[in-house]
Amino acid sequence: MDKFIIKGGRRLTGEVTISGAKNAAVAILPAVILSDEPCVIENVPSISDVNICIQVLEELGATVTNIAKDTYRIDPTTIDKFCVPYEYTRKMRASYYFLGALLGMYNKARVSMPGGCPLGDRPIDQHLKAFCALGAENALSQGMIDLSAKKLKGNQIFFDVVTVGATMNAMLAAVKAEGLTIIENAAKEPHIVDLANFLNSMGANIMGAGTDVIKIRGVEHLHGTTYAVIPDQIEAGTFMVAIAATKGDAIVKNVIPKHLESITKKLEKIGVNIEQYDDSIRVWVDGPLVKANIKTAPHPGFPTDMQSQIATLLTLAEGTSIITENIWEQRFRYVDELRRMGADITVNGKVALIEGTGKLMGAPVKACDLRAGAALIIAGLAATGITEIEDIFHIERGYDCMEGKLRAMGADIEKISVPDKPGTKKTETVSKTAV
Ligand code: EPZ
Repeated sequence: MDKFIIKGGRRLTGEVTISGAKNAAVAILPAVILSDEPCVIENVPSISDVNICIQVLEELGATVTNIAKDTYRIDPTTIDKFCVPYEYTRKMRASYYFLGALLGMYNKARVSMPGGCPLGDRPIDQHLKAFCALGAENALSQGMIDLSAKKLKGNQIFFDVVTVGATMNAMLAAVKAEGLTIIENAAKEPHIVDLANFLNSMGANIMGAGTDVIKIRGVEHLHGTTYAVIPDQIEAGTFMVAIAATKGDAIVKNVIPKHLESITKKLEKIGVNIEQYDDSIRVWVDGPLVKANIKTAPHPGFPTDMQSQIATLLTLAEGTSIITENIWEQRFRYVDELRRMGADITVNGKVALIEGTGKLMGAPVKACDLRAGAALIIAGLAATGITEIEDIFHIERGYDCMEGKLRAMGADIEKISVPDKPGTKKTETVSKTAV
């Protein structure tokens, strides 16, 4: 089992270059299935979720070549299977994007129902609602979702809740459907726009991505393209918080400042200095950090995927901060681990009250999900003493070589492998269900 060992107290300085966006890449890679020609995808992050996407594409019969560290050439014309088994969806929930892509291209798809998740209930009713609106029939048998359609026809789709995944899947299924599809109450995250831009670069006709109404005119054919994934908004935000938590001064490079607006505004309210350039951002702290009130919301609101990271920063601020988690029902599981490091946090349903103590102490802790793991790294960097983080496979699902990037900024962090204690239940395979 791998662990991170962090000796806290080192300021982060210098610079870090942000990798491609996980939540864009895990939708764009399946979307290649819709093309009649090979595609080249650049700026793909080296993370385990991407590895799983590549494995699924190869499982389906696509020809995948890693032509550079972050660049893949994918030929989907050799695909001859249309089923994604549980072994993949168990590791990565976003495997459900293969439903929309396979249905959109072949009028059929068979993907295992995603398993449980550390964030709480994660239904896919809105995904199925979109597929059915376009003319697909769905059946659930032995944990597999079976979709089939004689012909996909454009329709009006109104989402009962703003959902990133279902908005992505609706676009994938509608892009070649006959006629006009209008998606209302659509999610507006940067990765939604990135998927739409990718599909349009293949010849799709998608308008309005990034607003709550997306219009898609179906096209017969999508051609090959070369496309670079956008920088990861959440990785950038995570590093911004880490610099602030260590009272550092550093430049975060390869970012789109507009994607970071809600994060930047909150950090400035907490007392962090931010200077924006075209594609980079300087972050530094030269005074006290103060309390804040955070409410997570769909984009352009404060991202739920930054909630655990900003909570860690607020444990170091003066005063009582309030965090309201409006997206996921169980996204405070990291709090118990922060309490082991001396944090004073009270959770009541959707709300966490954080008493800023101004300091954290190193301790052995365990990552329970991707962003919780990132928060524990931030806590370890800021803490006095040594922090050991277990179950770092969660972190490696969504952060490209985080320890290497942090070491280059002056952090004292290393990854070590320790043999599993004899008799310990291999929780990794079970708890490896991704969020
Ligand atoms: C995406 O998950 C992200 N994952 C999550 O990031 C992120 O937290 C979430 O969007 C919100 O921004 C990927 O993009 C791979 P949703 P997704 O559908 O698509 C409810 C990370 O750390 N809902 O926008 O699964 C749902 O229960 C991960 O990178 C339904 O009710 O999220 C939730 O309350 C964690 N029915 C809300 O909508 C549905 O059919 C938002 O979920 C679908 C969703």
